[in-house]
Amino acid sequence: MARILITSAIPYINGIKHLGNLVGSQLPADLYARFMRARGHDVMFICATDEHGTPAELAAAKAGKPVDEFCAEMHKVQSGIADGFRLSFDHFGRSSSAQNHALTQHFAGRLNRAGLIEEVSEKQVYSNTDGRFLPDRYIEGTCPNCGYDKARGDQCENCTKQLDPTDLIDPRSAISGSTDLEVRETKHLYLKQSDLKDQLSDWIDSKSDWPILTTSIAKKWLHDGDGLQDRGITRDLNWGVPVKDGEKDWPGMEGKVFYVWFDAPIEYIAATHEWADASGGDWQSWWRTDKGADTVRYVQFMGKDNVPFHTLSFPATIIGANSLNDGEQWKLVDYIKSFNYLNYDGGQFSTSQGRGIFQDQALEILPADYWRWWLLSHAPESSDSEFTWENFQSGVNKDLADVLGNFVSRVTKFCRSKFGEAVPDAGAFGDAEHALITDLTARVRAYEGYMEAMEVRKSAAELRAIWVAGNEYLQTVAPWSTIKENPDMAAAQIRLALNLIRLYAILSAPFIPDASKSMLASMKTTDDAWPDDVAASLSALPPGHVFEVPDVLFAKISDEDREDWQARFAGTRDAAQ
Ligand code: MF3
Ligand code: ZN
Repeated sequence: MARILITSAIPYINGIKHLGNLVGSQLPADLYARFMRARGHDVMFICATDEHGTPAELAAAKAGKPVDEFCAEMHKVQSGIADGFRLSFDHFGRSSSAQNHALTQHFAGRLNRAGLIEEVSEKQVYSNTDGRFLPDRYIEGTCPNCGYDKARGDQCENCTKQLDPTDLIDPRSAISGSTDLEVRETKHLYLKQSDLKDQLSDWIDSKSDWPILTTSIAKKWLHDGDGLQDRGITRDLNWGVPVKDGEKDWPGMEGKVFYVWFDAPIEYIAATHEWADASGGDWQSWWRTDKGADTVRYVQFMGKDNVPFHTLSFPATIIGANSLNDGEQWKLVDYIKSFNYLNYDGGQFSTSQGRGIFQDQALEILPADYWRWWLLSHAPESSDSEFTWENFQSGVNKDLADVLGNFVSRVTKFCRSKFGEAVPDAGAFGDAEHALITDLTARVRAYEGYMEAMEVRKSAAELRAIWVAGNEYLQTVAPWSTIKENPDMAAAQIRLALNLIRLYAILSAPFIPDASKSMLASMKTTDDAWPDDVAASLSALPPGHVFEVPDVLFAKISDEDREDWQARFAGTRDAAQ
C-alpha cells in the first residue's frame, strides 16, 4: 500500500467556474484519487478555494458584500458544486483559514532567515481617481508579449506570461476604467528566486517522466522567459495574509499582505492541516519528509496557465525554506499532470466574460456522471479540445446509453423474463466465454496501466472498449436465440453477463461513480474488490444470487434537448470578475 497525496489547483473564490476549470484539474484529480483508493492505496486528496487577492476583492465589491462574507458564502456554493460533481476531496479548505495564515507567515520567516527575502522600494501604479494602488487584477491593459488587450496586471490569460502591472501597454483601472494613473514608490518584499535558479533547473531536469506540457512550460520560463526573476510577494491590499515573519511583526510592512500566489499553494499544506484539525489526523506525515512524508508520492493536477507557479514559484518557496538545513524539511511535488484548455463551441470558455456553460448550470440540466464521462473522455491532454453540444450528445448517447446502459438493461431484463431475478446456475462456460475473459483480462491490465500513468483519454477509451467487448459478446452468443435450442448454455451466458455488470461497476466507478453505485445496488452486492484476477471476479456473483432490474442508467439526450441547451447557453451570463 502506497501513500499518495493528490492536490488539484485551488479555484478562485470569485465566481462559479466553468466546465473547462473542472476538466483541467479537479475532475482528473478525482479520477486518479478514486482509482488509487480502489486499488487499496492510502490517498489524501486536497482542494480548497483561493480566497485572497484582487479577484476576490473585486468580486465582493461587485456583489456589494464585505469580502470575508462574500468568501464564506462562495466557499459554500463551490463546495456544494464539488459535491454535485462527486469530487471526493478528503478536505475542501479555504486559503483564508487560520492554518494558512500561520503557515504562510512561517514560510516567509524561514525564507527570510535563509537570506532569500529582499526589501525593495518599487514603483507601483497608483490610480488618482480610485485613490489607491492598483496591484495585479486591479489593472488591465495590452499584453506586451502577445498583444492581447484584456491582459491583467499579474498574468496574461492568453499567453500565460506572468506580468507586472507596470508592464502593461495602455493600462486602465479595473475598478473605474480610469486611465488617470501614475507610478508611485512603495516598499515590498521580494523572493530571490534567481538565487535558486540552478537548483530549480536541476530539479526540473531530473523529471524526465513528466508530461511534455509541464516541463516545456517550466523550461520556457526558466531559460528564455523571465520566470525566475525575483518576485514581489507582498501587496498593498487589505484582504489577505498580513505580512509577518512567523509570529513576529515585520517592520515596514504594516498594512501589507502577502501576494495571493505566495499563500495559495501553501494552502495545499494548510488544507491538510485543516483536515487534521477536523478529523484528528496527522497532517505533517503528508508534508514533512522529516516526519514520515518521505514515503509519500505527491501528484498535482492543474491547467497549463498554472504550471509556472507550480514548477517554479512554489518549489522556490519549498526549496528555499528547506535550505535552512535545521531538520525541518517540506515535501516537493513528485509529478505534475497539466492540461490544455477546453474550448466552447468555437471560442474560449471565459469566466471573466461569462461565456460557456458553468458548473452550476451543467448540474441543473444533467446528473454528474454525464458530464464526468464526456469531459474526461475528451480531456484536453495533448492539445486543446472543444466542447460542442453535438459532440456531447453523441458521446453520451453512444457510450453511456447505447453501450453501457443498454447492456445492463438487456441482460437484467432478459434474465428476469427467462430465469427470474437471480443468477442462473445451469450450464458451463465454453470457448466464447473463455475468449471474452482472456480479452478482458488484457484490457483491464491496459486500463490499469493508463490510469496509473494518468493518461485520461486513453483510460476512457480502454474502459469504453471493455464495455464494447461485453456488448459484442452478447450480440455474438445471442442468449435470446440460444435459449430456444440450449437453455443451459443461455443460462451460462447470462451468468457471465450479470457478473460483467458487477465488473463494469467496479472498473467504471472512478469515471461515473453514481452509475457504478446503481449497478452494484441492482446486483445487490457490496463486494467492489478490484478485479486483480478478472476470471475470478467474473464469478463473484454465484448461482442463485438475487438481483433486481435497475432503472434506466442513462437517458438519451434528444435533439430537442440539445437544441434547447445550445440556444440557452449561446450568449454570455453575468460576468464574474
Ligand atoms: N486560483 C488559481 C486559478 O484558479 C489556482 C491556484 S493553485 C495554487 O488559476 F497553487 F495556488 F493553489
Ligand atoms: Zn499575452
